[in-house]
Amino acid sequence: MDYDPITKRPRDLRLPPMLEDYDASRRSFSWDQVERELAWLPGGGLNIAHECIDRHCQEGRGDKQAMIWVGKSGEEERYTFEQMRVETNKFANVLKSLGAKKGDRVFVFLDRLPEIYFVLLGILKAGCVAGPLFSAFGPDPVRDRLQDSGASVLVTAPELRKRIKDVLPECTDLKHTLIVNKDGRSSDPLAAGDISYEAEMAKASPDFAIEPTTRDDYSIMHYTSGTTGKPKGAVHRHNSVLHQYATGQWCLDLHEDDLYWCTADPGWVTGTSYGIIAPWSNGVTQLIYEGGFRATTWYDLIAKYKVTVWYTAPTAIRMMMKVGAEAAKKRDTSSLRFMCSVGEPLNPEGIFWGQEAFDLPFHDNWWQTETGGILVANYAGSEIKPGSMGRPIPGVEIGIIDDDCKPAPTGEEGDLAVRTGWPGMFQTYWNNEEMYQSKFKEGWYITGDRARMDEDGYVWFIGRSDDVINTAGHLVGPFEVESALLEHPAVAEAGVIGKPDPIAMEVVKAFVALVDGYEPTEKLRNELMRFARGKLAAGVAPREIDFIPSLPKTRSGKIMRRLLKARELGLDEGDTSTLEDD
Ligand code: PRX
Repeated sequence: MDYDPITKRPRDLRLPPMLEDYDASRRSFSWDQVERELAWLPGGGLNIAHECIDRHCQEGRGDKQAMIWVGKSGEEERYTFEQMRVETNKFANVLKSLGAKKGDRVFVFLDRLPEIYFVLLGILKAGCVAGPLFSAFGPDPVRDRLQDSGASVLVTAPELRKRIKDVLPECTDLKHTLIVNKDGRSSDPLAAGDISYEAEMAKASPDFAIEPTTRDDYSIMHYTSGTTGKPKGAVHRHNSVLHQYATGQWCLDLHEDDLYWCTADPGWVTGTSYGIIAPWSNGVTQLIYEGGFRATTWYDLIAKYKVTVWYTAPTAIRMMMKVGAEAAKKRDTSSLRFMCSVGEPLNPEGIFWGQEAFDLPFHDNWWQTETGGILVANYAGSEIKPGSMGRPIPGVEIGIIDDDCKPAPTGEEGDLAVRTGWPGMFQTYWNNEEMYQSKFKEGWYITGDRARMDEDGYVWFIGRSDDVINTAGHLVGPFEVESALLEHPAVAEAGVIGKPDPIAMEVVKAFVALVDGYEPTEKLRNELMRFARGKLAAGVAPREIDFIPSLPKTRSGKIMRRLLKARELGLDEGDTSTLEDD
């Protein structure tokens, strides 16, 4: 690749039309161009795993490195596209031998091991629907998702299986549990009835004819939290690869010889759309690190593997800022040429800090589980407006609209909405078509975010229009946390809000009214926190609990979380006319 030595930008930025005349290029854009660049299956079908892996082997890039995996203790494994092809074929064969059929849901509850990538892509090759689960989840979220999706196969690891053993019998659709015992880490991996992943893979054929999926067949489902009820499974289709492939180039500026690192876990949508599909459909080599956040380890990884494009999140950036720029400057991170961020508002200080620590700004972009891919971005080739999420991608109309779906005047706040029909658009919420339909109005998908658009078309995030909490880039539904707390015998009522936090943006805070006879002691507070952590996940469980005599409710009995939040922040309590009289 040919770089400009001063800006470090490739001379052939992947977004040439948009640099010349942004508006004209957006209007004239047609997805046909992207369709022509994909490989497609023989016979015209579309399969994400084929685009990500097999096409590169067929086109003579089989020997190229696809994945450099670094384990928690620094061990390393490398896989070429050809090796990935064989491993994913084998896993597709394992699924077929277990009787999995097209459309069956196969869920994966694993750490960031190489196997999670073989398994997820193997599921897609077999025509099944992949359901990745974040490995920090406790038993309740795993049970809820397995039950709702009717998953028939679960792939997990010995320690994680132990964590959820009590809820597995409640997941009655589950027929098979496959256990990945990486490098024999566990000496007693298999419970009765479990199947060894390694033993099945050893028997499986390396040849597999990919199930002839169409662009509309379901591919991946990610559960995402709303204000009410349990999380909903947003279902995507194979067609989303168009979106992820194109935005990999436009928004992440991916080029053939990049070494790309996405720090998100495949248990969340960023970790699949941009930790699997975007880079590999572009044939780019990825670094995958099993461990969690530690600033100095991260910088060592960038220096050692010469990461060029880095996709991370504002909470991680704020944690790095806390450690200070010096730690970054002590390493040679000069290989980096493009850095981007997603998931929460990126404060301008974070952008400038990137410049200080790495000589590069972070480029913010915006999207959601439901959108499947990036829709608004600060591009490599255009000016960043610090604090803005950037401008819409070509081929997609973003609206800031009022309650009547009319465009809000330039610069004024409204609902952030997307004109339906973009390629990565989710297809339904599993088992909840009614909720899905409720997200659409007059040809717009209403995202639940509030924003404004300036005269240059840059979109500025204002906040959520609902009670969903964003903690460290993960959405948490207050209802889930309230339900978990209510299972404790001492809890009569619970109300949960997001409390502003300088690092994680928000942390989960609960207000609890106790059953008569229980005392609001420090001991009980700690017990409730432990109880919730055991059921949910660290991060999702409340970080703080306040005891209050009773919770403010509407006359119809709904907890007024808005009021709890206003009181917590010492703000005006707003309209309380529907408040229940005490
Ligand atoms: O509220 C917005 C926030 O995260 C939500 C989407 O979360 P999720 O479905 O978990 O997808 C995460 C992967 C993109 C959005 O509705 N959000 C996302 N990106 C930004 C953001 N808030 C502010 N700025 C962003 N760049």
